[in-house]
Amino acid sequence: MENLESDAFVFFGATGDLAYEQIFPALQAMITHGHFDMPIIGVAKSAWSLEQLRARAHESLEKHDCLDSRAFAVLSAKASSKLAVSHDDAGRLHQCSAVCTHLGCIVSWNSTERTWDCPCHGSRFTNDGKLLNGPALDPLAKSR
Ligand code: FES
Repeated sequence: MENLESDAFVFFGATGDLAYEQIFPALQAMITHGHFDMPIIGVAKSAWSLEQLRARAHESLEKHDCLDSRAFAVLSAKASSKLAVSHDDAGRLHQCSAVCTHLGCIVSWNSTERTWDCPCHGSRFTNDGKLLNGPALDPLAKSR
């Protein structure tokens, strides 16, 4: 059997009770034991900032009496960047930085054109981050 690796850990309900009660402590435990090395993508209905989400995770770990400052720093870093994540027609996952290489706005997914479009000045990128048109001059940065 082929040993497949995941490109990212994606969980839904990042601001909800399950994340608070179980997912944040489990993620930290995996980091502490060296079993976790991938970006974390938390999806939530609530429009929280990254700082609010970090504070919620910190509160969860304190409540469960398992806060490990070193592991929490790693956990925070893995959840610190905005990513542009999509699948191609073959089902392969592509992830890049969502920060536009022109002046730093955050790109958004155009499901009709299947492109990442920058709302600020109109740069467009393929689903895997290649530059389609400027004013940006460079592709989206690759992310691991
Ligand atoms: S910041 Fe994206 S096109 Fe200008």
